[in-house]
Amino acid sequence: KKSQGWSALFSEPMSELVQRYTASVDFDRRMWRADIDGSLAHARMLAHVGILPKDDLAAIERGMAQIAAEIESGAFEWKLALEDVHLNIEARLTQLVGDAGKRLHTGRSRNDQVATDIRLWLRGEIDAITELLVGLQRSLLDVAEKNADVVMPGYTHLQVAQPVSFGHHLLAYVEMFSRDAARMADVRHRVNQLPLGAAALAGTSYPLDREMVARSLGMEGVCQNSLDAVSDRDFAIEFTAAASLAMVHISRLSEELVLWMSQNFGYIALPDRFTTGSSIMPQKKNPDVPELARGKAGRVVGHLMGLITLMKGQPLAYNKDNQEDKEPLFDTVDTLKDTLRIFAEMMAGIEVRPAAMEAAARRGYATATDLADYLVKKGLPFRDAHETVAHAVKAAAAQGLDLSELPLETLRQFNPAIHEDVYDVLSLHGSLHARGTLGGTAPVQVRAQVARHRERLGPA
Ligand code: ARG
Repeated sequence: KKSQGWSALFSEPMSELVQRYTASVDFDRRMWRADIDGSLAHARMLAHVGILPKDDLAAIERGMAQIAAEIESGAFEWKLALEDVHLNIEARLTQLVGDAGKRLHTGRSRNDQVATDIRLWLRGEIDAITELLVGLQRSLLDVAEKNADVVMPGYTHLQVAQPVSFGHHLLAYVEMFSRDAARMADVRHRVNQLPLGAAALAGTSYPLDREMVARSLGMEGVCQNSLDAVSDRDFAIEFTAAASLAMVHISRLSEELVLWMSQNFGYIALPDRFTTGSSIMPQKKNPDVPELARGKAGRVVGHLMGLITLMKGQPLAYNKDNQEDKEPLFDTVDTLKDTLRIFAEMMAGIEVRPAAMEAAARRGYATATDLADYLVKKGLPFRDAHETVAHAVKAAAAQGLDLSELPLETLRQFNPAIHEDVYDVLSLHGSLHARGTLGGTAPVQVRAQVARHRERLGPA
């Protein structure tokens, strides 16, 4: 009696629990298309070098086309007993085309097969993520441009520091997401290398043309060491690290959106469709989407920890531990893609409340540095100017006034070098416009940066 798919070597069947424990088909089946593409590239190369008869190649191509159609229509019957996506597809192929199907695995192992599948699948996902990162940047650029002249308090230590343009603030996130996209592009080169031909671990005695397979799969090169090719998942870890950073950036933005939407700030409102109500408090509109995104950043960072820990104790070459790479990787991709898509849409729809932002900047003496700089221009050493302004702020605060609301005579008591023109620098917009250094918050800079980003991203 044959106990399972392997061979005559096994004398007892796997228990149902062990079967379930070791099977991956429930989740790795989502790589089916990569599996078929990799198999077809392998089969064509086998035929090209004369290992596989042309008729067998034709049969394999025919069978794979049918399998793809079956999977797409949902008619394909995935079997847990066949463990993973690779064995499921190969078994069906043999069922459909007979011996040709049995010849497909010549010079190949599931070890180089699975490593190839993950890389092909991940490459496609990296491209999708890159597109989504571009979409989010474009959406932020639109809002930034519209709000180049809107003043909000800039913070350090979450204490009001200096006035900044709301557009400038959003452009900080465009910078972050542009680096995230650059990291994705960089990781892609290392993902896009071909493990096939490494076979189980040592290479193979068949005269395979690995370069041909790499070319036909659009890969940039072949993995140059068979042991490394089947065993390392550093490319997946690296991708997850880049994804974690992108989620951390989303999480920081989320934290700000939550704060800004609080009644105590009131800087923005999120579109209703991104908020939820409370089952008990009728007045509530909660920023669930950014809160969840902040939470999901933790989940992706968790996957990074999971994957990197998965790798650390593994001796060369392949170990079954590596089957555990898939669920965290898949969930990272799903989470990041959904989050980027939803943020591009949500950010495009935020309602900005300039009056609330300006009032908050005024309450926090955001232009105190400008007054100090004004005195420096009149000849005071900066440290003295700093001290003088501290007294002025103290006096203004005692009267519940902004610096710009103090009469000239009062200001002149702190330093007689102060004249009527001081009110230009004490105004929020005056302060904003003054900061025109490259990368500064002046609206002219903000517009220049928006233009630069648009140029970089190309036509929409
Ligand atoms: N499902 C396996 C994985 O994800 C495929 C490779 C299995 N190889 C093996 N020798 N058991 O890693």
